[in-house]
Amino acid sequence: MTETIVRSPKLDEKTSFYQVYGTGIPNVDSLTFDRFSRWWNRSKVQGDLPNLWRVATVDEQVVGIAINSVLESLGWGAIWELVVDREWRNQGIGTSLVLESEQALLKQNPNLTHFVVGVKVHNPRSIPFVERLGYGIQSLVLRLDGDVPHRLEEQELNVNIARLDDIPTLLHLVPDTYWGHRDHKTLEYSIRGGNCYVMREQSSNMVVGFVRFEYDPDLVDTTIISFSYRQGYGISVIEATLEEVATRRAIFWVQDKHEEILDYLYAEDFQRAEAEFVARKRVRHLL
Ligand SMILES: CC(C)(COP(=O)(O)OP(=O)(O)OC[C@H]1O[C@@H](n2cnc3c(N)ncnc32)[C@H](O)[C@@H]1OP(=O)(O)O)[C@@H](O)C(=O)NCCC(=O)NCCS
Repeated sequence: MTETIVRSPKLDEKTSFYQVYGTGIPNVDSLTFDRFSRWWNRSKVQGDLPNLWRVATVDEQVVGIAINSVLESLGWGAIWELVVDREWRNQGIGTSLVLESEQALLKQNPNLTHFVVGVKVHNPRSIPFVERLGYGIQSLVLRLDGDVPHRLEEQELNVNIARLDDIPTLLHLVPDTYWGHRDHKTLEYSIRGGNCYVMREQSSNMVVGFVRFEYDPDLVDTTIISFSYRQGYGISVIEATLEEVATRRAIFWVQDKHEEILDYLYAEDFQRAEAEFVARKRVRHLL
C-alpha cells in the first residue's frame, strides 16, 4: 500500500487544500475561496495552521484535510472540517487524520477534556465512522432561516454598539452554540470587526444580551446572527435583535438546549436549513 503521511499543511498547499476541502461538500460547509483564504490567513497568524491544521499526503499530493482548533474556554479540541478526496476514501486515511488531529490538539493544550466533531444530519455514513473512533452524539445544532418579522412593539431592551470594555460582562452570557462567543479572544475579534451590539434591560441597565451581525456576499439581503443572552432573557434578546436587522432574511445557528428560542423561531415560520450532530469524546487520560 502507498504510504500516507499526515502533517501540517505547507504554505504553498493552500489551493490544493481548498480543492480537497471542496470534495467534501455537501458534508462540509460550502466556502468561497475568499472566505477560505481569510480562515487560512487568520489561522496562519494565530498559529493554528502549523500547529493544528493537518493534511494527509501521498507522494506529496494532498489527499485529505482536517481543520482544527482549540476552544479554550470549554477545554475542547474541535475537528471542524474533515475530508478525504473521493478516490482515496475507505483506506484508513480519514481515521489517521482524526487520530493525528487529536494528538496535535492535545499537544497544543494538554488540559483538554474533550474532542468534538460536528456531523451533518444528512451525512448518516459518518455517524458510525466517528462512533468507531470513540465519539458519541450528544446534541444537535440547527440552522434556522426565515423572513424577519417586524412588529414595532415597545422594546424592553436598550441596544448599543458593543465596546471592548463590555467584554468582562459579556463573558457571563450563554452563547447560541458551543462554538459561540464565550471567551475574551473571540469577543474581541468580533467587536473589532464591527456590527456587534449589547442589550441592556431598561429599568436596571443590566447587560442581558450580545449579538453580532454578519453578511455573506453569496446570501443576498440576509443577516447571519449570532447571539448570547442572560438566562431568562433569551426571547427578549431575540425580539430586540430582529427589530435591529435591516435585511429581509435572517439566519440563526442554535443549539438544541435553547428550546424556548427554537420554539419562538419556529412559531415565527423560520425553517431548518441545516443541522449537525455534536459528537464528543472524552480525552483518554481522563477516562
Ligand atoms: C468521512 C471521511 C472523512 C472518512 O474518510 P475515509 O478516509 O474514507 O475514512 P476511513 O477509511 O478511515 O474509514 C472509512 C471506512 O473505511 C473502513 N476502513 C478503514 N480502514 C480501511 C482499510 N485500510 N481498508 C478498507 N476499509 C477501511 C472503515 O471501517 C470505515 O468504515 P465505516 O464508514 O463503516 O466506519 C470521508 O468519507 C469523507 O471525506 N467524506 C466526505 C466529507 C465528510 O463527510 N466529512 C465529515 C466527516 S465527520
